[in-house]
Amino acid sequence: MSATILICDDDADIRLALSLLLSSKGYQILEAQSPKEVMINANRHQPDLILLDMNFSRDTTSGMEGLELVSQLQPMGIPVILITAWGSIELAVKGLQQGAIDFIEKPWHKEKLLKSIEQQLAMRQLSDENTGLRQLLTPDSPLPWVAESASMRQIEQLLLQVAPTDANILILGENGSGKSLLAKRIHQLSSRCNAPLIEVNMAAIPVNLFESELFGHQKGAFTDAKESRVGRFQLANDGSLFLDEIGTMPLELQPKLLRVLETGQFEVLGSSQTQVSRARIISATNAKLSELVSEGRFRQDLLYRLNTFVITLPPLRERQQDIILLAQSFVTSYCQKYHKGTLSLSGDAQSLLLSHAWPGNVRELQHVIERAVLLCTSEVINAPQILIDQQGGVVPVAQYNDNGSLSISDSEVALINKALLAANGQVAAAAELLGISRNSLYRRLEKHGISHES
Ligand SMILES: Nc1ncnc2c1ncn2[C@@H]1O[C@H](COP(=O)(O)OP(=O)(O)OP(=O)(O)O)[C@@H](O)[C@H]1O
Ligand SMILES: [Mg+2]
Repeated sequence: MSATILICDDDADIRLALSLLLSSKGYQILEAQSPKEVMINANRHQPDLILLDMNFSRDTTSGMEGLELVSQLQPMGIPVILITAWGSIELAVKGLQQGAIDFIEKPWHKEKLLKSIEQQLAMRQLSDENTGLRQLLTPDSPLPWVAESASMRQIEQLLLQVAPTDANILILGENGSGKSLLAKRIHQLSSRCNAPLIEVNMAAIPVNLFESELFGHQKGAFTDAKESRVGRFQLANDGSLFLDEIGTMPLELQPKLLRVLETGQFEVLGSSQTQVSRARIISATNAKLSELVSEGRFRQDLLYRLNTFVITLPPLRERQQDIILLAQSFVTSYCQKYHKGTLSLSGDAQSLLLSHAWPGNVRELQHVIERAVLLCTSEVINAPQILIDQQGGVVPVAQYNDNGSLSISDSEVALINKALLAANGQVAAAAELLGISRNSLYRRLEKHGISHES
């Protein structure tokens, strides 16, 4: 469906020009010629984007009407691009501070205007997807959280006490032990559950973008700052901010984070105004932070700010009781995903699951079960379909061959057929199971004369 753009200007010629340009690009157009009409249209039609003139009565140039409208529109979450008179940059900056997302000077460059619109619509789609994800996590759709073992029950008890407070929580645990999921659960159990949970992977932020990412920047704050950007602290203001992989944070950046955690204060890059953050901080790491502190790689004072409460997730091998429950829960969800009806785990399969040490923890178990569900051709998952790599990784399906022939060619045909069967005949999915590219599978299908859906 094409996006709807509301054009707001008192000048009929400008509305016409914009409307012709944008409808020729396939956008649906709505028009408003007064501030009142802007609000009515925005409320009634929920456009995807608003192009807003700063001045509505011809004789004023103060831009006050535009600024007021921007703040009235802000809570609706519709991106607003301002149309400003040439040279009124100061006004445009005020508009950006009130929540507008970009501005275009009159007379506009067509290409620049179209590009800005495209970008903002793409961003909105992304944030809608995020909202969709967040909705998946609302209390109505509980997370698939398994916590029956004694150690996990203790964690559950602690969670019920500390999640609803605003206290900062540090989650420790090995890779794949459920830290990210636990962060979501803390947010879900908190009084902030209806506000966003904003995640930042500290390992993924380039050092030079750190401040802009966390605190935001104004357009023009640095050479590449072509658009203004809202920082994660602001986005998480009424919600929670999840700082994942906190142990990877470079030492030189740690003071910047420390300051906002200590005082709540930060500045958007390019602005001298100090802002106050109310975000609740949840952080996680698989690193031994205390060791990093003693090696001088992590600041002790920063650790104290993060670890008001510490929750250490035990590795999966230390929660035997959860293994089968988790496996069953994954079987159910993958059966749904791959339209496999109802499958159960045989006694042998369960014993095998219980005997493994799970160095990759819950994530490893999840992958093993996904493959087992795909490989299973009866109603019961048996031990041969549980492909566990004793080295910790997942066994390539190519090692899975229960046909008695020792001929390589026969084995290949058997394997390919098995994978196609498991993937309901879909070549792409079968190729993934086999760990080869789609093209390479097609070549093999042709070589062996195996029929398939194209
Ligand atoms: N207790 C649990 N109940 C149900 N599913 C779980 C549980 N713990 C983890 N999972 C699932 O296991 C997978 C790995 O968990 P998650 O991503 O939270 O681990 P992690 O500790 O954050 O890993 P990493 O160290 O790689 O960031 C996810 O798909 C998650 O949904
Ligand atoms: Mg994680």
